[in-house]
Amino acid sequence: MRNLDEDNITRAVIGAHAKAASSRMREVMTSLVQHLHAFAREIALTEEEWFHGIQFLTEVGHITSDARQEFILLSDTLGLSMLVTALNNKKPHGCTESTVFGPFHIENSPHVELGGDVANGAQGEPCFVRGTIVNLAGHPIPHAELQVWQADAAGNYDVQYADRDVHRARATLVADADGAFHFKSIRAEAYPIPHDGPVGRMLKALGRHPWRPAHLHFMITAPGYERLITHVFREGDRYLDSDAVFGVRSSLIADWVQHPAGVAPDGTPSDVPFNTLSFRFVLNPAPAGESGRRQANSVGWKPRKELET
Ligand code: BEZ
Ligand code: FE
Repeated sequence: MRNLDEDNITRAVIGAHAKAASSRMREVMTSLVQHLHAFAREIALTEEEWFHGIQFLTEVGHITSDARQEFILLSDTLGLSMLVTALNNKKPHGCTESTVFGPFHIENSPHVELGGDVANGAQGEPCFVRGTIVNLAGHPIPHAELQVWQADAAGNYDVQYADRDVHRARATLVADADGAFHFKSIRAEAYPIPHDGPVGRMLKALGRHPWRPAHLHFMITAPGYERLITHVFREGDRYLDSDAVFGVRSSLIADWVQHPAGVAPDGTPSDVPFNTLSFRFVLNPAPAGESGRRQANSVGWKPRKELET
C-alpha cells in the first residue's frame, strides 16, 4: 500500500477495513469513506477548507458537555436527525408520524394526574390540552403512558434554568381506560435552538435562522405498540416552513384555539385568555416480539446543568 494517489486511495482505505469487528461496521465505514472521498473530489476541497472543517468540528467538541450536546444540534440542523427518524419510523398510512426527539427530554418527569397542572408555574398563557390514543382501527388504547414537555413563553425549557431540577411544563401522565387524556399547561411558543456556539455560527454563515415553530413534545408508550416520539405543532406559526431542524409534518399541525377570559374547560374561572388544544394519536402495532421500541433518534442524551441559549 504505497504511492497512493487520488485515483486509488479510496480503494486502499476500504481494503484496510477487511478485519473490522463486524460486517456491519465494515459496511458502514466503507460507505462513509466512499462518500467522504467523493465529497472531497466533487468540490475539489482545498487544504484551507479542510482545516477550516477540522477547526469547526474541534469547536463542536469543545462546547459539548454534560449540559450541551452540540454534535446533536449539528445533526439536527443538517437534517440528519430527521432523516434517521424518517428512515426508522415508517408507519402505515393513518398512524401518527414521528419527528425529532430533541435534547430537552428527561427521564422520570413528575407524574401528574389526568386534569392536573403540568405547567407547575411555567410562564405562558394557559392551555387546556385533551386527546385520545387509539389504534389504526380507531379503537381506544387503554392506559397508555404519555410524557409531555415544552418550552415556556420565554422560549426556554425548565432544564435551561439555574433551578433546573424544578420541573415545569413537563410531566408523565397515564390515559384512562378509554384512551383519553387531558391536562392543563401553557401555550407553546416558537423558540431558537441554542445558537451561541459553532452550530449557531454555521447557521448564520448559511443565512439560516435558529428558530423552531411552537410545539408540544409527546412520547407515548403502550404495551404491544411502537413507542411514538413526536410533537404537535401550532397552526399559524411563522416558522412552520423553516424549522431549524426540519421536523415539521403537516399531519402534526393543530389549532391552539384562543378563548377570551371566562370559564375554562375545567370549570374554573380564568381572568386571562386561555387556549384549548385537542389531538388524536394513532399508534402503530409493534412487530411481533417487540414492544415499546425506542425511536432511533433518542440517543439517551440528557442535559444535566443549565444550558446556555
Ligand atoms: C426541541 O424541539 O426541543 C429541539 C430539537 C432539536 C434541537 C433543539 C431543540
Ligand atoms: Fe422542543
